Amino acid sequence: HMTTENFHTLTVETVSAGVWLVRLNRPQALNALNTELLGELSAVLDHAEMTEDVRALVLTGSTRAFAAGADINEMAALDMVGILNDPRQQHWQRITRFSKPLIAAVNGFCLGGGCELAMHADILIAGHDAEFGQPEINLGIMPGAGGTQRLLRAVGKSMAMQMVLSGQPISAQQALQCGLVSEITQPEMTVERALALACRIATKAPLAVRLAKEAILRGMDADLSTGLRYERQAFTLLAATDDRNEGIAAFREKRQPGFSGR
Ligand code: HXC
Repeated sequence: HMTTENFHTLTVETVSAGVWLVRLNRPQALNALNTELLGELSAVLDHAEMTEDVRALVLTGSTRAFAAGADINEMAALDMVGILNDPRQQHWQRITRFSKPLIAAVNGFCLGGGCELAMHADILIAGHDAEFGQPEINLGIMPGAGGTQRLLRAVGKSMAMQMVLSGQPISAQQALQCGLVSEITQPEMTVERALALACRIATKAPLAVRLAKEAILRGMDADLSTGLRYERQAFTLLAATDDRNEGIAAFREKRQPGFSGR
């Protein structure tokens, strides 16, 4: 069983059946993402991936900061070859290929690598005091964990350019307007709202959730006909599952479905 004692930079809590709440916890550095934190997060995701009854994860920070970026002190020690061989790259890849629903509950600063981490989530919920930005340009660098690509796809060219080239953050309200987040809440309700969504998703058929997530992510990365072909294959595959029979039977018998993940 996953317990928090194993970790220095985050905590993990089983909130209810099938839902884990992961809290980044480096308050002294506004949750700046150092290698240890990214390593611990990827270990949690490994564990969640392998644990069948984990159905969804919520990732959050503190009320002051989701995360204020990559750890600048750590980054300062790396030269070009250091960056080229950076083990953090593998941790980012672990986060990218996580197959279960990941919901980010964002309050406060969500900057640089922190914004990039939030954009790895499938759904973003923000408190109305959250601010999102890619301030790397102020340091003479640029986003390096997917920021230019995921922002472009999330908010379009003009806003992506504005954020990345000026380094100026945007408000939660702007993030909602441009589609970076799907909802904003009172700051003290952000985690609760994200958990409610995660709990709802946790009651659905896991294979359907997994394939639907993959279909949407593939669509971000492919032309329409390729995406549609993948969707149709996934849809066809689900016809062979017990849960599809159960879902349809439950509807016809006017009862709640009990999904088995088979
Ligand atoms: C290391 C950080 C940090 C960071 C904050 N801290 N951000 N340490 N890396 N990214 C530390 C501060 O040094 C300080 O430590 C403590 O956290 C509190 O921060 P303050 O600056 O005192 O707080 P405040 O005045 O409220 O300002 C908050 C802030 C500011 C606006 C968020 O901290 C800030 O601008 N941070 C840097 C944001 C940034 O540039 N992020 C992008 C990083 S580059 P002490 O010990 O002094 O109390 C990046 C590249 C990604 O992310 C590429 C991925 C491959």
